[in-house]
Amino acid sequence: MRVLFIGDIVGSAGLSHLKKNLRKLTAEYPCDIVVANGENVNRKNGITKQEAEEIRYAGVDIITLGNHAFRQQSVYDHLDDCNYIVRPANYPSACPGVGTAEFETAKGRIVVVSLAGQVDLDPADNPFYTADRIVKENSDAFIIVDFHAEATSEKRALGYYLDGRVGCVFGTHTHVPTADEQFLPKGTAYMTDVGMTGASDSVLGAEKSQAIQRFLTKAYVPLDQAEGAPKINAVYADTEKKIIERISL
Ligand SMILES: [Fe+2]
Repeated sequence: MRVLFIGDIVGSAGLSHLKKNLRKLTAEYPCDIVVANGENVNRKNGITKQEAEEIRYAGVDIITLGNHAFRQQSVYDHLDDCNYIVRPANYPSACPGVGTAEFETAKGRIVVVSLAGQVDLDPADNPFYTADRIVKENSDAFIIVDFHAEATSEKRALGYYLDGRVGCVFGTHTHVPTADEQFLPKGTAYMTDVGMTGASDSVLGAEKSQAIQRFLTKAYVPLDQAEGAPKINAVYADTEKKIIERISL
């Protein structure tokens, strides 16, 4: 399977850069599915229905979310109705939306899963056991896991835990790409964090002066999304040809 996975789209800078460049990217990297994390696309975090549709129109097949999945209340009905957005599967079943999405390709069925980490994030069920259940329920599918987590240790551990049982485990949430894209020993394509799609002249997509003030003063300083030097961070994996490449555009 050929997978293009786009790191967290942050704000209007990330969305407009994605819209301008994704078709060029998929021309260069032909793929069977494009997945993007979209949980920070709204200027107040989260995602609206319109933003989700714009991401889809840009060329993304499935949108994953994370700890900011429910920041925009207006999207709740859309999360329940649409079949192309996933929030963490290890959140309570009463939450809006679902944790897995199916995508049909000529090469077979793909299941995209969102999982949230347990370290330094909101409480959630153990993602390792949730992944076990989803793997069991979808033994015929090529599974792509977006592990939305803070700790590199938790991410690498889940990667090895699922190695050979899923097609890809790609990490999101920190907005900083790691340099460890690889195929794990049993064949799963893996990268600890794909990074973000947004203003690179920033602190994780936020205005750097405001972020610095937070650390200097400990006071609450609202963070605006930055605009400067937009960049797409992504990872491309061809699991048949055993090609995996980190992309920074
Ligand atoms: Fe996040």
